[in-house]
Amino acid sequence: MRILIEENYEAMSKKAALMVAGQILLKPNSVLGLATGSTPLYMYRELVRMHREEDLDFSSITTFNLDEYVGLNQDNINSYHYYMFDNLFNHVNIKKENIFIPDGMAENLYEECKRYEKLIKDRGGIDLQILGIGKNGHIGFNEPDLKFEATTHVVELDDETIKANSRFFSSIDEVPRRAISMGIKTIMHSRKIILLASGEEKAEAVKKAIFGPIIPGLPASVLQLHPDVTIILDREAAMYVE
Ligand code: F6R
Repeated sequence: MRILIEENYEAMSKKAALMVAGQILLKPNSVLGLATGSTPLYMYRELVRMHREEDLDFSSITTFNLDEYVGLNQDNINSYHYYMFDNLFNHVNIKKENIFIPDGMAENLYEECKRYEKLIKDRGGIDLQILGIGKNGHIGFNEPDLKFEATTHVVELDDETIKANSRFFSSIDEVPRRAISMGIKTIMHSRKIILLASGEEKAEAVKKAIFGPIIPGLPASVLQLHPDVTIILDREAAMYVE
């Protein structure tokens, strides 16, 4: 594991964007795994800026998102589809046919998970996966559990996650209770992983992910077993690491 500690959220985001840009420059047809949430927002902004001002080229890039809520259609402003188009895809030259996000409206969610997993394989696997981390140590929507869930699957969200994500909805009752998420094996098969964490509220989970035992009760701890993980933290998230 490489651990980079940056002064603040902006510096953390810029470092992550530089690493993504490096991946795109070295392999213009890279397959990127993407996360949503608050943490990568500024990194996406920075990537959009690099596209506009520095010609960063997304025309051969393929993306797979980590997760999507069940039951929100793509136009719902809280869906991860909406988030991705709003924050990145609408502003760069990525091809629509190269964008993949689980379909949380699929009639058969089980088939959708199988389809998604196969798509990732068919596209040659993920070169670089971006991750955030939940306060409970989740990655993607792999919540603390008794076992590591391997591949793309339907998840029942933890109360803590529902509460944390309710900040984006007008009331907590509107937050979907289920999501589709890549599994731990899907994530671990990525060739490279970057995990971003910002703010004091993530410090405990970050500490356990890096130094704690590798247990499904703290899903991010599994990253200790991956050969190429970079964890980029701001000072607050790194308060128990330094
Ligand atoms: C998002 C995702 C989640 C978030 C995590 C942190 O696609 O898979 O694991 O990365 O919940 O969310 P924020 O960044 O909002 O604190």
